[in-house]
Amino acid sequence: MEEQRERMERIKRRKAQGLQDRYLYDYTFANDNGQNPVMEKAHAYVEHWKEAYRDNTGLLLFGDVGTGKSFFAGCIANALLDRDVPVLMTNFPSILNRLTGVFAEDRAAFIASLDDYSLLVIDDLGVERSTEYAMEQMFTVIDSRYRSKKPLIVTTNLKLEEIKNPPDLAHARIYDRILERCAPVLFSGKNFREEGARATKAAAKEIVSKE
Ligand SMILES: Nc1ncnc2c1ncn2[C@@H]1O[C@H](COP(=O)(O)OP(=O)(O)O)[C@@H](O)[C@H]1O
Ligand SMILES: [Mg+2]
Repeated sequence: MEEQRERMERIKRRKAQGLQDRYLYDYTFANDNGQNPVMEKAHAYVEHWKEAYRDNTGLLLFGDVGTGKSFFAGCIANALLDRDVPVLMTNFPSILNRLTGVFAEDRAAFIASLDDYSLLVIDDLGVERSTEYAMEQMFTVIDSRYRSKKPLIVTTNLKLEEIKNPPDLAHARIYDRILERCAPVLFSGKNFREEGARATKAAAKEIVSKE
């Protein structure tokens, strides 16, 4: 009983730490609308987590906006957190934010702390501004993860072609490591966000047209 309670407490703590945006709590298999066949791969990843962790197998989720990449990654994060696995789902803007105005040794400690997580999810790679500083920090994070030999999941709106043909060396150093460790998964389905917006508009119309 006591052990069970401690485990629950730990999981709750890990979730608060690992899912920094509130909306991520809703990205669960239980909330899957079943309309995206690629979600099967998210289930498979969780089922085969032991092997994925052992072999350092990550995923590169790419495709247009609204196709469910963050939802997919969030489902994996939640399912593994529920299994007591330390997961962090974050993005580069918040990592860069965290690193700004911080002493070099604290920066290094923070970046090293990202590797304490068994799974690191970096959502929306490529949206941050590619200043020299940002690129350097991004490289440090990705390279540190690469050397930790722990899995990484990346989501991005970039095309696979763009990732395979980076514009310069700074991008190439980052993308090469991601491509080496992360199996690409294409999201080619419909834009769920547009659908949501249509439903919202329809509902709003319904409300305002009521007498
Ligand atoms: N399989 C799914 N089941 C239910 N809702 C989904 C699913 N996939 C995506 N959504 C919803 O659709 C919207 C867009 O998905 P998101 O994962 O943010 O897209 P992307 O990260 O590819 O831009 C979000 O509101 C998300 O909750
Ligand atoms: Mg997204």
